Amino acid sequence: MTISAETQSTPNYQAILDQIWSEVAPRLGEGKVASYIPQLATVPLAQFGMAVYTLDGRLFTTGQAQTRFSAQSVTKLFALALAYTREGDAIWQRLGKEPSGTAFNSLVQLEYERGKPRNPFINAGALVITDILASRFVDSEIAVLQFIRQLCGSTTPDFDLKVAQSELQTAHRNYAIAHLIKDFGNLHNTVSAVVRSYCRQCSITLNCEELAKAAAFLANHGTVPWNNQQILDHSSAKRISAVMLTCGTYDAAGEFAYRVGLPAKSGVGGGIVAVIPGEAAVAVWSPGLDASHNSALGTYALARLTDLTWHSIF
Ligand code: DON
Repeated sequence: MTISAETQSTPNYQAILDQIWSEVAPRLGEGKVASYIPQLATVPLAQFGMAVYTLDGRLFTTGQAQTRFSAQSVTKLFALALAYTREGDAIWQRLGKEPSGTAFNSLVQLEYERGKPRNPFINAGALVITDILASRFVDSEIAVLQFIRQLCGSTTPDFDLKVAQSELQTAHRNYAIAHLIKDFGNLHNTVSAVVRSYCRQCSITLNCEELAKAAAFLANHGTVPWNNQQILDHSSAKRISAVMLTCGTYDAAGEFAYRVGLPAKSGVGGGIVAVIPGEAAVAVWSPGLDASHNSALGTYALARLTDLTWHSIF
C-alpha cells in the first residue's frame, strides 16, 4: 500500500513502517560501518530495523527490530538523564549545552574552552558525565545499564565485553580527551577508570524494540508510560530533549533537524533513537554510517517517518 502524507492525521504506523522498509530494502548496504573500533567493523552492513513505541503502549516494527546492536553513543542519552536525575542543573557547571559544530571525538574546542566540553553528547561531554556518575555509583556503567533495563522493562540489554575491550585497546583519542579535561581540573576520578567505564557503557547492546521503549519516558514528559514511574519532571524532560535536538547528532545536528525534525541521539553502531513529544519514541538501526557518523538509512527512515506521519516537532 502506498501512503500519502495527506492521509496521516491519525498515522497508521504499521503501514508507514512497511512502506519505509520497501524503500530501504533496495538500498541496504549504503554507508560504511565504523571501523575505528575493530570489533564494530565485523558487523554486516546490509541490516535495518525500526520500532515505534506509542505512549498508549502499542509497538510497531519492521525489519530486524529484534536484532541486538551496539548502542555506543546512544547510551550517552541515558547516562545524561541518569546524571540529571541525581545532580539536576548542577551538571551545567561542568559542561555546556551548545552544539559543538565539530566531530564527536574532536579535541580542538577543549583546549580553547579550558576543559569544559560543549555538550554531553560529544565524547568529551560524555566523559565528564561518566565522571559525575562515577562519583555517585560504585560502577557507573552498571548504573547506566540498570537504568536502561528499568526504562524498557527488560533484562536483555547487556554489555558486549568484546566490543568494550576492542574500544579500550584503541581508545587513544578518548584517553587524550580525558587527560586534557583532567589537566583543566574537570575530571575528579582517574582517567583510566573513567575511560574504562565509558567504553563499557558504550558497549551496551539492545534491540530497536527495547530502545524505543526505553526512550518513551522522554516523549511522555518524563514519566515511563507503561508503569507510570516518574523519572524526570516535565520541564527536565523538555530540557533533555532540547539538547538532543541541538546536539544529539553532532556536527550534523542542523542537517538532521532539517530532514527529520525530531530530538534524537545517534551512535556509531548505527542506532538512532528519536522522540515524538506526546506521541511515541522511535528507534532505528542500520550499521552503515554517513560522513557525520550517523546511520545513513536510519536518518532516511526517520525523515520518511516524519514526512508520512506529519508528526515532527515542527
Ligand atoms: O567513544 C567513541 O568513539 C564511541 N564509543 C562512541 C562514539 C559514537 O557512537 C559517536 N556516534 N555517532
